[in-house]
Amino acid sequence: MLKRTYPAILLFASIIPASAQAPAAPGKPLPPEPMQAKVKAACTQCHNTSRITEQHLTRQEWFAQFEKMEGLGAVIPDADRDAMLNYLVKNFGPQKGAARKSASPAN
Ligand code: HEC
Repeated sequence: MLKRTYPAILLFASIIPASAQAPAAPGKPLPPEPMQAKVKAACTQCHNTSRITEQHLTRQEWFAQFEKMEGLGAVIPDADRDAMLNYLVKNFGPQKGAARKSASPAN
């Protein structure tokens, strides 16, 4: 009995970590608009799109995320910055979530 189950356990032990390190799942799809490809190119090297699609941020907050990501090594072409921000605010802006920011005078 033991002889039979042991290799099975070993097999599972070697499969599970391997699949956990497999290339990241693509995440939720980004809306197919003109900036999709640029955002994908600049923003999915280190994490998948879910990091983006699960957010509901104001323009200032997305801007702050850009700065943070650049600090981590992201490359965001200056020429695309505004259009990328527009794309993110339009699709993942605060209006898509609860109106949690409406009381904040800073935004
Ligand atoms: C050089 C690698 C890298 C690139 C490129 C990158 N990110 Fe990130 N991103 C990270 C890391 C690392 C974290 C986790 C940071 C943390 O937990 O503090 C993260 C987290 C996030 C988060 C979650 C919120 C947070 O503060 O943790 C958002 C939103 C995000 N990234 C958006 C973007 C966007 C938009 C782009 C493209 C402009 C981008 N990322 C490109 C490395 C990167």
